[in-house]
Amino acid sequence: MNKIKGVIFDLDGVIVDTAKFHFLAWKKLANGLGFDFTELQNEELKGVSRVRSLEKILEWGNTSLSEDEFREKMAVKNDNYLSYITTLTSEDILPGVSKIIDFLSEENIPIALGSASKNARPILKKTGLLEKFQAIVDGNDVSKAKPDPEVFNIAAEKIGVAPENCLVFEDSVAGVQAANIAGMISVGIGEKEVLHEADYIFSSFEEIEEEFLKKLLTT
Ligand code: BG6
Ligand code: MG
Repeated sequence: MNKIKGVIFDLDGVIVDTAKFHFLAWKKLANGLGFDFTELQNEELKGVSRVRSLEKILEWGNTSLSEDEFREKMAVKNDNYLSYITTLTSEDILPGVSKIIDFLSEENIPIALGSASKNARPILKKTGLLEKFQAIVDGNDVSKAKPDPEVFNIAAEKIGVAPENCLVFEDSVAGVQAANIAGMISVGIGEKEVLHEADYIFSSFEEIEEEFLKKLLTT
């Protein structure tokens, strides 16, 4: 296996537990339109851009909107989402994440953010993590949604590491697929049944031993 020289983190559901707030905000929107969707369907929204998410939800509800209504619904969803995350602080960083970020920094491994979210920077600021990343690539920088590997390829380029020497932490099926297509090592954080396409799967960062990472950095 290739030696790991750079690490890319997804944000929502990996660094912070914001995936549940995206779910709540989309659910509220769907309910307002007179239908619902399941947590299983929600797995398909993880890692997916705001536009693509609304398109999928409307398909599930057999509903169509005019362009103006579509834009308005996206804005309402985002306002609701932002209202859920106003109180976000460093206490909301998921367990085990800071330890791994510090370990990578000690090992001089550059880290990048590779997120579909347009709210990534404010979230990193609120949690005090903004300065820890050597590169941030988010929903404002890409034109193609995961599973397209664009976001990870740009991130790899920004930290000056070849894709095959990058490792990606992801909680979404689309993100794991994007990392795989980019030729990177994919590490799924979540359920085995959902993220089975990942090279490695852990239920949380707390499960990841330093030895596991050390091995990948020296192989
Ligand atoms: C991803 C989330 O990180 O970002 C998705 O997993 C979300 O649920 C997407 O839709 C876009 O986020 P935002 O904050 O720009 O609406
Ligand atoms: Mg995610």
